Amino acid sequence: MSIHIKTPDDILKMRVAGRLASEVLDFITPHVKAGITTGELDRLCHDYMVNVQHTIPAPLNYAPPGHSPYPKSICTSINHQVCHGIPGDKVLRNGDIVNLDITVIKDGFHGDTSRMFLVGESSRQAARLCEVTYEAMWRGIRVVRPGAHLGDIGHVIQTFAETSGYSVVREFCGHGIGRNFHEAPQVLHYGRAGTGTKLQAGMVFTIEPMITAGKKAIRQLGDGWTIVTADHSLSAQWEHTVLVTDTGFEVLTTSEGSPPPP
Ligand code: MF3
Ligand code: CO
Ligand code: CO
Repeated sequence: MSIHIKTPDDILKMRVAGRLASEVLDFITPHVKAGITTGELDRLCHDYMVNVQHTIPAPLNYAPPGHSPYPKSICTSINHQVCHGIPGDKVLRNGDIVNLDITVIKDGFHGDTSRMFLVGESSRQAARLCEVTYEAMWRGIRVVRPGAHLGDIGHVIQTFAETSGYSVVREFCGHGIGRNFHEAPQVLHYGRAGTGTKLQAGMVFTIEPMITAGKKAIRQLGDGWTIVTADHSLSAQWEHTVLVTDTGFEVLTTSEGSPPPP
């Protein structure tokens, strides 16, 4: 599949979609507390997207090949859950770490972003995993510029994660994004510098490393979506949607509540 180069008009729309996705995370942040269920977080986000933002929650009924339609509007992945956790009756508890992954559609274009949340007081190890994963994402973002290669992104993420004592999940990757939720190219979070597709201004893709405190192997639960670490080690993920500009990069999924770059 070929990589869509976004036009200046597409980019205006993707900036809006990206900011709106990030603003859903700002909106939900004060609610991410011990005692709330992931189902309640989903409902709050769904209502905010649909009724306040007038955006479409892209995950709802999303059905890529080989998957049943995704039943909720956001993904909530707790502790050893790597990604695609389905909101439900699960109650957040003190010390949990949880990833909330938001994708909205506005004016035909997608914005996709996720953050980690520490519920109450978490362990030093859990906090460090979240911090290292955040820095890994940003190290990947900072190599984005025309003429760089996709493998440069994977290389810096893998090197930083593994030097920190962690593992990079292989089965899921960043992705081109635009009118489609997932489009070319695949953005691996591991690899070799100087390999892979050369970046051009106007490409838009996500960088969303999944980093585990233990081994890299994962399993899918019987719900057909939730991914967990095979060894039940903690896992963290952060995600931004990134535009390749003439001189470097522009992060599209930012808003007032975005944490500052490391
Ligand atoms: N937001 C996820 C990503 O970053 C995809 C979720 S697909 C869903 O690519 F169906 F689980 F929502
Ligand atoms: Co994504
Ligand atoms: Co996402």
